Amino acid sequence: QSLNTIKKRGKLIIGTEPTFPPFEFVDEKNQIVGFDIDIANELAKRLGVKLEIVSLPFDSLIPALQQGKIDLIIAGMTITEERAKVVDFSKPYFEANQALVVRGDSKFQPKKIEDLVGKKVAVQLGTTGDLVVSEVKGIEVVRFQKFTDAFLELQNGRVDAVVLDEAPAKAYVKKFPKFILSAVIDTGETYGIAVKKGNRELLNFVNQTLDILKSTGVYNRLLQKWFE
Ligand code: ARG
Repeated sequence: QSLNTIKKRGKLIIGTEPTFPPFEFVDEKNQIVGFDIDIANELAKRLGVKLEIVSLPFDSLIPALQQGKIDLIIAGMTITEERAKVVDFSKPYFEANQALVVRGDSKFQPKKIEDLVGKKVAVQLGTTGDLVVSEVKGIEVVRFQKFTDAFLELQNGRVDAVVLDEAPAKAYVKKFPKFILSAVIDTGETYGIAVKKGNRELLNFVNQTLDILKSTGVYNRLLQKWFE
């Protein structure tokens, strides 16, 4: 997908998984909105095309990009060595850590990943949270495609904790006061926008636009809009 193909087509097609507030989530009007979506809109606007959002399970995003079904992944996706072998990432646009969320009425208040040993822990399939808990022996990992389902299981008492990125963890805790954030695990992650491997032209455009959004204050305005 060269820039010209995208322009001729008249739309930029991004892939995301929208149970990840405030980066991407479905609002009361059933629209996918969020920080990432606003960035995607800025990219489309600067290309002079419309934005089309394709909603997919998180672990299907990279295959969809490789198959050319989407132009970009914007999904709070952590830049990892493994992923960077198969896609190209933009410069980092956000810093993140993992967080542990539990029910507020339970005595269980894990402070580190090892405290989850012997417990049932929900994660989103294929995320860095999945990796972090899967590395530790003795944790029973339950994998979901949607964080909304992971939190339903936490609410019902079928799992003891959910592990996910800190900002979305805070957003869920804010929305559902029966949950609490019991710890933040310093994983030092950064998010990047992914393009198909070798798509230099699109990657340069994304990086340049991120620079412009930062230097013109748009990026900060979006931070204020979605994180307070
Ligand atoms: N940052 C984590 C990762 O890259 C989780 C991202 C989940 N994003 C989403 N839109 N569901 O694995």
